[in-house]
Amino acid sequence: MMGLDLDPRAIVISDRLAGVARVVGVTGSKGGIGKSLVATTMALSLADGGAKVGLFDLDFTSPSDHVVLGVDKSFPNEEFGIDPHRVHGIDMMSVAFFSGDAALPLRGDAATSALLELLAITRWGELDVLILDMPPGLGDTNLDVINLLPQVEFLLVGNGSRVVVESVRRALQLFAELKVPMVGLLENMKRGEGAAVADLAKRFDVPYLGAIPYDERVEEALGDVEALRNTDVYATLHQSVGLHLR
Ligand SMILES: Nc1ncnc2c1ncn2[C@@H]1O[C@H](COP(=O)(O)OP(=O)(O)O)[C@@H](O)[C@H]1O
Ligand SMILES: [Mg+2]
Repeated sequence: MMGLDLDPRAIVISDRLAGVARVVGVTGSKGGIGKSLVATTMALSLADGGAKVGLFDLDFTSPSDHVVLGVDKSFPNEEFGIDPHRVHGIDMMSVAFFSGDAALPLRGDAATSALLELLAITRWGELDVLILDMPPGLGDTNLDVINLLPQVEFLLVGNGSRVVVESVRRALQLFAELKVPMVGLLENMKRGEGAAVADLAKRFDVPYLGAIPYDERVEEALGDVEALRNTDVYATLHQSVGLHLR
């Protein structure tokens, strides 16, 4: 694989992000634990609070932020680069704007290249925070983002199920070894009183960002931001994560 430092796009990227104060990757070692819902609702809540927010969906195979926000997939404006879509006060970029309804199964080099390309062409302008909705897993894209965006901080999403707790522990260990700054650990779909996730945060000395309950209203609220604002997901993020990012 060509070294990233030899790719001319890697140089353009730092210019493209020069006006961005914070870059926060919402990540998790598993799929289906709420990364996309958290990344998107967090962007909405921060924008509602008056922050300048960007949202970049990096799950190239299964982008979903446009579904949560109810965005049509029209092609973004292009002139010496591409302007993110402005939706509900959020500047948004997703491969879904380019790939239409087709799945985009990228591997290795191709995924890196798509990431480089989108980072190199997107004009984010001035932002308080750029939220990256990461694909599941801790491999390719996470490592590429760490390489390409040295300012990135991660917000790790987990839940209290024993199968997830084990993978959250591995993720925290990996991030500690890589010395990547952490916004914190957020518990999603909280059921019962278990404290396994909070305990892990303590053990790895990262902030515990609180717990989002499982909210049955979420499914109906997908694509309808007004309804999304009335969910526990929004309320919890507005309080807990807002405090850490504002
Ligand atoms: N707190 C929650 N309450 C109810 N449903 C949730 C909650 N968090 C996530 N979901 C739902 O779980 C599914 C997976 O969430 P998603 O954000 O796509 O996960 P990921 O991005 O980690 O794969 C989606 O249908 C989402 O709406
Ligand atoms: Mg997702």
